[in-house]
Amino acid sequence: MLFLKKINELPGPMADFIRFAGRLADEKKINAYVVGGFVRDLFLGIPDYDIDLVVEGDGIAFAEELSSKLSLHVVTHKRFGTATLSGLEGFKVDIATSRKEIYEKPAALPTVSKGLIQDDLFRRDFTINAMAIAINSPCFGKLMDFYGGQDDLKKGLIRALHPLSFIDDPTRILRAVRFEQRFDFKIEKQALVWIKEAVHRRMLHIVQKHRLRDELILIFKEKAPIKPLKRLYALCGLTYIAEGLRFQRHWPNYFHEAAKKIAWYREHFLHKRHIEPYVIYLALFFYPLSLKAAKKAMLDFAFHKGVSSRVVSLKENTLKIKKELSKKNVVPSTVYRLLEPLSYEVILLFEILARHKAISGHIEDFLFIYNGQRLHIKGEDLSRLGLKPGPYFKKVLDDILVAKIDGKVRDREEELGLARKLIHLK
Ligand code: CTP
Repeated sequence: MLFLKKINELPGPMADFIRFAGRLADEKKINAYVVGGFVRDLFLGIPDYDIDLVVEGDGIAFAEELSSKLSLHVVTHKRFGTATLSGLEGFKVDIATSRKEIYEKPAALPTVSKGLIQDDLFRRDFTINAMAIAINSPCFGKLMDFYGGQDDLKKGLIRALHPLSFIDDPTRILRAVRFEQRFDFKIEKQALVWIKEAVHRRMLHIVQKHRLRDELILIFKEKAPIKPLKRLYALCGLTYIAEGLRFQRHWPNYFHEAAKKIAWYREHFLHKRHIEPYVIYLALFFYPLSLKAAKKAMLDFAFHKGVSSRVVSLKENTLKIKKELSKKNVVPSTVYRLLEPLSYEVILLFEILARHKAISGHIEDFLFIYNGQRLHIKGEDLSRLGLKPGPYFKKVLDDILVAKIDGKVRDREEELGLARKLIHLK
């Protein structure tokens, strides 16, 4: 059995976990399967670090039992009959009750009832994501492929399971494009017709925006997000995201520059500050909108505060920063004061958008030199000089740091000298 071999080739702790879960399912006399993207990636030979398990029985009870037997952390989502196990070596496990779904209204969440594995697979988006492998001991490694998933994987096709798939769940349009571009597959002809029908019925305008947002984020988390973005635009435009939003001629170039900048950052600064590459792409994506429209989109889609503030900050600051940093004789402290309050994602974007050698130079000096500067003196030194803690305390330290960045003070003595002067001036 091909899949038995594939499971045996998995990293030890993962294969051990799957076998253990299978034996527990034997004991409980329920059928258990690994399913979905995990099976797809196993077949494609792509490492996937999360396991999706489905049991024909109570998924939550099964997850709780596994967690207590293996001393794992479990989070349950009673409303969906699902649970997540963490604490395993390098992977996490989602466990669900095998279910049937009925969509009573287009684009709304379905009514769910218990079902067999065949029902559970039928409710899924594409044939390549609708396969399962049995893990109970007597049939360990048996592939359950009712809808031709293996065949489509070989042919490189993204095929939906039924005509209403994209009406029931319009976010699948974004998923189809994402998988197509990720694997260099093709959306199958009939699926393409169903997608166009759903687009024509404006299903992407109707679906809940936060669900669209989650899929959009996944597109920007892909290795080369410009590919699915281009394809998505060709298939269904972008007006369901913001009125008048169009694919921009310069996006491919900016996205390419962004990928290079992210790789550069990882090489030099990863240990210093974590950045979220998808936020860089997202901010580029919303950049063509007016500030007002970008703010509205952030609210409508309920983007996380940290994300929306970076998207908005790019729009608010780019022109000002470009103007200031392209002046002649910019001193280091000006660069520091302009860039220090901003996120690194936004700072890297300035560099990409400005395409200006001097600006790049200032930004790199900020990242490599200015932002790493630390003072020798501390608050307690100011106290010893007689300054009482309060808002002025921070201002004195900031002013000394800025003087240091400009090379006006060099050692502890000079820092103390400036501190005395500033305190005296107060
Ligand atoms: N799924 C679905 N319809 C959706 C979302 C998910 O049918 N709108 C099903 C698919 O079977 C999918 C599984 O749920 O394989 C898990 O979803 P998800 O984790 O989003 O996708 P993966 O297939 O694991 O893809 P990725 O590699 O991007 O994580």
